[in-house]
Amino acid sequence: MDITVLYGTESGNSELIAQDLADKLNEGEHSAEVVDLQDFDPADFTADRFYLVVCSTHGEGELPNTAQPFYERFAGFEGDLSGLRYAMFGLGDTFYEETYSQGSEIIDRRLAELGAERVGEYGRHDASSWDLPSDVALEWLPGVLEAAGA
Ligand SMILES: Cc1cc2nc3c(=O)[nH]c(=O)nc-3n(C[C@H](O)[C@H](O)[C@H](O)COP(=O)(O)O)c2cc1C
Repeated sequence: MDITVLYGTESGNSELIAQDLADKLNEGEHSAEVVDLQDFDPADFTADRFYLVVCSTHGEGELPNTAQPFYERFAGFEGDLSGLRYAMFGLGDTFYEETYSQGSEIIDRRLAELGAERVGEYGRHDASSWDLPSDVALEWLPGVLEAAGA
């Protein structure tokens, strides 16, 4: 399966996860590329690829720096994304009770509004846990691939 791993980050955790996910996929039978959301144009979404979106939360439940320019384009994007399939992995910290992991949910909501279909479990990493972000993401990946029929 051709897979694009998109990440939005402010302090680098999401980028590390995205790279580790792509490395794991490329070790197997998949072909994965990693793209920073700030370099991604919503018009480039294609149903021929599967997307993994890895995105943290900053401010008060807001998008991290590199996801903001993407979202400005995405909010005004009027394409039809039906047929597009993706999986979502959100980073946050339960210290921020009210806004836990909401950054990724901003992107998730817009993808759903445009008709894209989320497959598999919604992955999460809580910075207040002792779990290493990439360990959690790599445990989440097989279930997502199975749900995607890959
Ligand atoms: C200034 C600041 C604000 C944050 N705000 C939130 C928040 O509102 N909700 C949340 O769940 N996590 C919040 N976080 C936690 C980050 O999402 C978490 O540390 C994440 O692992 C960072 O990933 P990144 O390095 O890819 O940006 C915040 C972190 C910082 C430093």
